[in-house]
Amino acid sequence: MLEAPPLLLAAFSLGLVLLVLLLCHSYSGFLLICWNELVLQPLYNLFMGDTKEQRILRHVLQHAVAGDPQSVLEAIDTYCLQKEWAMNVGDKKGQILDAVVREQRPSVLLELGAYCGYSAVRMARLLEPGARLLTIELNPDYAAITQQMLDFAGLQDRVTVVAGPSQDIIPQLKKKYDVDMLDMVFLDHWKDRYLPDTLLLEECGLLRKGTVLLADNVICPGTPEFLAYVRNSSRFECTHFTSYLEYSTAVDGLEKAVYMGQDGPAQP
Ligand SMILES: C[S@@+](CC[C@H](N)C(=O)[O-])C[C@H]1O[C@@H](n2cnc3c(N)ncnc32)[C@H](O)[C@@H]1O
Repeated sequence: MLEAPPLLLAAFSLGLVLLVLLLCHSYSGFLLICWNELVLQPLYNLFMGDTKEQRILRHVLQHAVAGDPQSVLEAIDTYCLQKEWAMNVGDKKGQILDAVVREQRPSVLLELGAYCGYSAVRMARLLEPGARLLTIELNPDYAAITQQMLDFAGLQDRVTVVAGPSQDIIPQLKKKYDVDMLDMVFLDHWKDRYLPDTLLLEECGLLRKGTVLLADNVICPGTPEFLAYVRNSSRFECTHFTSYLEYSTAVDGLEKAVYMGQDGPAQP
């Protein structure tokens, strides 16, 4: 307890510095994330004795309607716009995600990075009968929140939540999770994993001609190695969708990379 005041002082000083930097327009998206994740959220957690993800889930349980995925999405968006920023894909980019899922009509869809289950609810509500979503989440606490979110939305029968690192789970997809080929992959985990996991998916024989990779946050925080690779590879055809970082006005974008088949080695 004696160490709390200096700690708080340091957190506030760091917060002030970040707030000033926040005014620098070119870094606003990155600084917004730092401000929320490194300053506001730890302070809230300290004072409230829970986590932001638990608060998001509690807000959904109190304000959304059980079995109604749309109301779950609206409750999360409202909370994250008005109370606490969170790294869900959000409504603006979510509408692009919706359009791609509707267009592709995937039977087997893989998500890398579930967090609280916002995008899993978003995608699963659009799946056709018999189709399924597997979502891989590194953090077991987030995976548990995602499962509760899907149960509340009534989508649990269409979605398998797998807790663990993508790089360990992807090689198990065929045998352990009965996946033959993937129709679509939504990449939304840590940004330095986009490229190695794309190569791993190909190496494991999970991509077919026409498999759609849709990658979030390719501008903010950015995924330069992944973007350079898919845009310069003859094995992918790319389309960029400009949008905004979730719950902000900072520019971000989604990259759609359609796999065209294996004409060369899977090395960047
Ligand atoms: C941006 S959030 C996902 C947001 C979610 N897709 C949504 O829109 O609601 C990124 C998540 O990826 C998870 N993650 C990071 N690296 C991972 C990895 N290697 N494997 C699985 N999950 C990972 C993090 O724990 C975090 O919850």
